[in-house]
Amino acid sequence: MGKLMVLTLFGAGLALIGERLVALRQRTNASREVEPVEPQSCHLIEGLENGSEDIDILPSGLAFISSGLKYPGMPSFAPDEPGQIFLMDLNEQNPRAQALNISDGFDKASFNPHGISTFIDEDHTVYLYVVNHPHMKSTVEKFKFEEQQRSLVHLKTIKHELLKSPTEVKVVAEGFSSANGITVSLDKKYIYAADVAAQNIHVLKKHENWDLTQVKVIHLGILVDNLTEDPDTGDIWAGCHPNGMKLLIYNPEDPPGSEVLRIQNVLSEKPKISTEYANNGSVLQGSSVASVYHGKLLIGTVFHKALYCLL
Ligand SMILES: *[C@@H]1O[C@H](CO)[C@@H](O)[C@H](O)[C@H]1NC(C)=O
Ligand SMILES: *[C@@H]1O[C@H](CO)[C@@H](O)[C@H](O)[C@H]1NC(C)=O
Ligand SMILES: *[C@@H]1O[C@H](CO)[C@@H](O)[C@H](O)[C@H]1NC(C)=O
Ligand SMILES: *[C@@H]1O[C@H](CO)[C@@H](O)[C@H](O)[C@H]1NC(C)=O
Ligand SMILES: *[C@@H]1O[C@H](CO)[C@@H](O)[C@H](O)[C@H]1NC(C)=O
Repeated sequence: MGKLMVLTLFGAGLALIGERLVALRQRTNASREVEPVEPQSCHLIEGLENGSEDIDILPSGLAFISSGLKYPGMPSFAPDEPGQIFLMDLNEQNPRAQALNISDGFDKASFNPHGISTFIDEDHTVYLYVVNHPHMKSTVEKFKFEEQQRSLVHLKTIKHELLKSPTEVKVVAEGFSSANGITVSLDKKYIYAADVAAQNIHVLKKHENWDLTQVKVIHLGILVDNLTEDPDTGDIWAGCHPNGMKLLIYNPEDPPGSEVLRIQNVLSEKPKISTEYANNGSVLQGSSVASVYHGKLLIGTVFHKALYCLL
């Protein structure tokens, strides 16, 4: 198994640890006021109403979106509907979300997708790893993406225990109170990991032998969910929860808001942290991830809608 593949699985594994909820419980009173911030042009994505928890964009501009997560303690607007993976082509003028067909033989009725990671093989085959919680168990599903057919072919189910075996996983996981989001720098030399409870991002240097040493910790002062990297600039984009309590105790009259932070010059002395999107929940609730591609931004949520913006 290639090292990068291990990392892909590790990222997937983080979503399995299930510590996010515990961490949020401990920090439920972590909250900040939400002053609205919005890029020039944003609209909700049609067809995504019941979650868009994780988003991963291929270098070609095809975005995968996991939808329909049912997770203990988190709201779900469609508790009886199976989850789905949606595809959006960000090269299009007006990209639309389209549910991907999944091959027969896979139990689609219990599909409950959480974190997703893409992996491109040397022969350019695209694989999608999906953290799945069928019947509240945890597995990782490996799919092959068939671009022409707009479909996913299920290849195998990887059980939880396997994810614990690679030593890399143990090394990386040490010293985190609640690792959740993770991403690798464009040059593959650094790893960025979000600690939701500690409300910060750890920057780790990856050495030749795959030892990891901590370079720094960037404090964000907000519950940070998942991280992505702008393929053009290397900036980190973080999907954040401005109010943990509202997320856990859902009240449609006073919903949880959304906040997206961007961290520029990550490795410099003074990384620049800016709020690129913030909303009190009137438009978008419970942002978990923000992913950019050539001036376009997709913001996903744990259980709510999804937003498309031009930067
Ligand atoms: C938030 O929680 C911390 C630790 O649990 C506690 O010390 C603090 O008083 C709480 N703050 C509020 C505003 O409830
Ligand atoms: C979201 O869930 C609701 C309730 O089950 C359902 O009526 C609606 O069609 C779903 N929306 C989408 C876009 O799947
Ligand atoms: C999904 O599969 C069904 C049955 O195989 C087919 O009728 C449908 O056209 C497919 N949808 C897409 C978007 O390819
Ligand atoms: C966060 O993103 C990474 C990389 O895309 C993915 O492996 C991981 O499963 C995601 N975590 C969650 C909780 O969605
Ligand atoms: C959220 O913001 C909208 C528009 O900025 C405002 O009309 C609404 O009253 C706010 N809601 C809450 C619960 O603060």
